[in-house]
Amino acid sequence: MSTALIFGGSGKVARHLTTKLKASSYTVYSVIRKESQMPELEALGARPIVQSIEGSSVDELTSTISKHKPNVVIWSAGAGGGSPERTRAVDHEGAVKVFDATAAAGVKRFIIVSAIDIRDRENKPTPEWYNDDDLAVSNKMWNAIGVYCEAKLAADRDLVSKNHLRQLDYTILRPGSLNTEKGSGKVAAGKVHLGQSISREDVAELIVRVMETPSTIGLAFDVVGGETSIPTAVKQVSDEKIDTFEGHY
Ligand SMILES: NC(=O)c1ccc[n+]([C@@H]2O[C@H](COP(=O)([O-])OP(=O)(O)OC[C@H]3O[C@@H](n4cnc5c(N)ncnc54)[C@H](OP(=O)(O)O)[C@@H]3O)[C@@H](O)[C@H]2O)c1
Repeated sequence: MSTALIFGGSGKVARHLTTKLKASSYTVYSVIRKESQMPELEALGARPIVQSIEGSSVDELTSTISKHKPNVVIWSAGAGGGSPERTRAVDHEGAVKVFDATAAAGVKRFIIVSAIDIRDRENKPTPEWYNDDDLAVSNKMWNAIGVYCEAKLAADRDLVSKNHLRQLDYTILRPGSLNTEKGSGKVAAGKVHLGQSISREDVAELIVRVMETPSTIGLAFDVVGGETSIPTAVKQVSDEKIDTFEGHY
């Protein structure tokens, strides 16, 4: 039987993911930071572990991962627009601690939920598929939540550029803005435009599909709402080796 360990296990994407993984007979460990969330997570079939990412050292995170020996570690945590300090402590530094801990625990497969348009806007070229509307959305997003975007950029850059040291089998999933609609099972993936939001349930389904598709290892790709079935979208991205972070960090 397969085992997954989710950081940010009480989050909205993670709850959908937990339900889907349980339906596929996974054992799911959920790292959460509030004891009060335990009953809800247990009701979904998860095994909650109460541990704050911010408050834990790499060694402490390593021992949590080592103890449960998951086949895959998933990062779906985020400070959710908290203070700049907390955003940096979770979305950047917390993520990097978890990269190090996953590698130290000897787990290879690692999937991180990042976000669309996370890129070095000052030093790298604008993605060539962006149109004027995309640029307007990008400006709006970076003006509104720049600290969050910088934190995600720093984390993703660390993951990719230091992977010769950690040797993780990572995939970076970069969704557009998330909604709470029911999943449609259909998305647009790869080099997409920025305007469309995507259902959290569809993001969870994408994570499952990415887990089942080893040829997504080493890729970072964008996903928004669309018309392509999730299996087809993930297959296209992995067959064509589309990476929307490469050249932009
Ligand atoms: N919102 C968007 O439109 C959007 C767009 C693209 C990507 N994303 C990213 O997608 C991912 C999933 O989104 P979501 O909507 O499922 O997020 P969410 O519901 O806010 O879940 C994030 C989880 O992270 C947990 N967390 C925060 N600080 C923590 C800490 N110190 N230790 C342990 N856990 C901690 C939160 O726990 P608590 O419940 O205790 O607060 C929360 O359950 C996030 O990484 C987010 O940044 C979001």
